[in-house]
Amino acid sequence: MDRYIIHGGTTLNGEVEISGAKNAAVAIIPAALLVQGVCRIENIPQISDTDTLLTILAELGARVSYLNKSTIEIDCTNARYQDAPYDLMRKIRASYYLIGSMLGRFGSAKTTMPGGCNFGVRPIDQHIKGMRALGAEINVRGGYVYADAKDGRLHGARIYLDKVSVGATMNIMIAGVLAEGRTVIENAAREPHIVDLANFLNSMGADVRGAGTDTIKINGVDTLHGGTYTIIPDQIEAGTYMVAAAATGGEVLVTNIIPKHMEGISAKLREAGAFVEEYEEAILVKGPAVLRRINLKTMPYPGFPTDMQPQFGVLMCLADGTSVITEGIYDNRFKYVNELRKMGAEIQVDGRVAVIEGGRRLTGAMVHACDLRAGAAMVIAGMVASGVTEIDDIHYIERGYERFVEKLNALGAEIEVRYDSGEDAKTGLYSVS
Ligand code: UD1
Repeated sequence: MDRYIIHGGTTLNGEVEISGAKNAAVAIIPAALLVQGVCRIENIPQISDTDTLLTILAELGARVSYLNKSTIEIDCTNARYQDAPYDLMRKIRASYYLIGSMLGRFGSAKTTMPGGCNFGVRPIDQHIKGMRALGAEINVRGGYVYADAKDGRLHGARIYLDKVSVGATMNIMIAGVLAEGRTVIENAAREPHIVDLANFLNSMGADVRGAGTDTIKINGVDTLHGGTYTIIPDQIEAGTYMVAAAATGGEVLVTNIIPKHMEGISAKLREAGAFVEEYEEAILVKGPAVLRRINLKTMPYPGFPTDMQPQFGVLMCLADGTSVITEGIYDNRFKYVNELRKMGAEIQVDGRVAVIEGGRRLTGAMVHACDLRAGAAMVIAGMVASGVTEIDDIHYIERGYERFVEKLNALGAEIEVRYDSGEDAKTGLYSVS
């Protein structure tokens, strides 16, 4: 099995450049299906999730080409309706955006239920509720989602989300752009990637207002035209390097970021005793001699992001007292705790609460990457631990971190990659080196 071999006890120092935001890119690529013309998209992260989505678009008839390693052109002018490819759709969570984009473009969609990281039950009932309100007939049968706009085109509607959902907000936004009339999403999520998707759509001729607040208004238009758009930097990738710097007691300048998006993460790192200084497009993090205990609760943006919870879990193992994490988004996001225990961590979990006894010396072990962010957390733990840590199931990590090992090794980590499954694991159809 593919794995990372980490020689622990290293300190990270230097500068790391952050790539484009995964969770923006995985919505913007499917949304390009709405556009009749060439979308030039800059700052695309080269990760397996974006590869998978580009492959799906190509199978639907889009022309996809890389201009350089982070700029692509997508031309969906000649895309045609067909069932979305089952195997690719099942690989990733964000394939749910194909429901909105295919409905908007073709008036019909047949997709699979989405895959992705398993944090317990991850329903898409709010997506379905939104599509139905826009006039689609939706049936879920045998693992497939069948969606049809009753008279071939969606119609604007007012939708109140029962739960603040990033995916449902963005999916309804995608579907609403070419709908007839006005769509209003209430109790919308407010993450930076929601604003980014709205900015992308607007730059192609859509009329989306209020993204970043809890009420988003979309005035439907008849067509979208091509254009150029630059994706925002990845908040979670940046946060992961910030925690890695603090945990290893190093000093890292994290560049090409929007410090405003990092506020919740920066505040918690400062509380833990790290030195965090913001610049216009960069943040410097210095790890303290002794990390302080902290408590945190994950919440929708602008609250503390659930996707940073496992990385902070590692930091808390090293702190000088007992810390408490309350997971406010998912039912089952503490699977990584078992892996950390193999390395000597002392953590009690009760439902959505984890109590972490700090001051433990972590030692190398054979562990799993349980999911994308849990995998990143295990990498941080491996760098801090004494001895050698082997992490398997690293395909999860490669879904969301561009050149993770290369970037960490450039900062002073000692990580080897063993791809037992061959070259294909490293590069997908659209990756360029
Ligand atoms: C997105 C991110 C993921 C992040 C999460 C929360 C992508 C591809 N993934 O996931 O990295 O962890 O936001 O910031 O952008 N829910 C329902 N019904 C629904 C939809 C969601 O009950 O129809 C629940 C979920 O189970 C979860 C909560 O709402 O408990 C929030 O989920 P949501 O914001 O939708 O997360 P995702 O879009 O799946």
